[in-house]
Amino acid sequence: MLSDKGFNLWADDYDKSVRLSDEDGTYPFAGYKNILNTIYKRVLSASSKTVLDIGFGTGTLTTKLYERGCEIYGQDFSDRMIELAQEKMPNARLFQGDFSKGLVDTLAHQKYDAIIATYSLHHLTDLQKVSFLKNLLMQLNEGGSIYIGDVAFETRAALQKCMDEAGEEWDYDEVYFVYDELKIHFPTMQFEQMSNCAGIITLHC
Ligand SMILES: C[S@@+](CC[C@H](N)C(=O)[O-])C[C@H]1O[C@@H](n2cnc3c(N)ncnc32)[C@H](O)[C@@H]1O
Repeated sequence: MLSDKGFNLWADDYDKSVRLSDEDGTYPFAGYKNILNTIYKRVLSASSKTVLDIGFGTGTLTTKLYERGCEIYGQDFSDRMIELAQEKMPNARLFQGDFSKGLVDTLAHQKYDAIIATYSLHHLTDLQKVSFLKNLLMQLNEGGSIYIGDVAFETRAALQKCMDEAGEEWDYDEVYFVYDELKIHFPTMQFEQMSNCAGIITLHC
């Protein structure tokens, strides 16, 4: 699992490496641009004003929402990712903190119209995901939604197929979403497969 130091080192090349994997249509980032665009449109069409981004990275998605007038909050543990994102969004409220320990205090005491997490929550175990997402649901304003874009599958069999195809490229440190196994904890959970290896999970309060 990459640490905050690992993400600091990756930060300056991150956008390029993601773009290349997406353009090649290969695991792990096949579908990345489409996923971010879809979430972007859904957040705007729901007229969400306050948006929390968990693991915002270089701020690719949140910067677009910021430019459309959304009030952006975020948490990430990488200094360098925070620097890059803050340059693009000077007025965003970005905090450093490890989300495996929950949200930092200031963020935990707010409510949001939309909470987004793209390619970040696979750093949590499934048990951690369930508990973190249950807490996040309580931080949504009435009518709000959580949008997760990530390497994700409807079933364990679909994950296994992708793992076989990826061969040595597969990252065994990351814990990907399997909708079938998580939905029992979340009655409102919805899943859309967006590429051979990634999808969007939506939760409503
Ligand atoms: C693969 S990048 C995704 C960035 C961005 N959301 C995107 O879609 O391009 C994962 C991000 O999550 C952050 N991250 C990973 N594990 C974390 C943790 N335990 N606590 C806080 N941030 C974490 C990393 O620093 C990195 O910025």
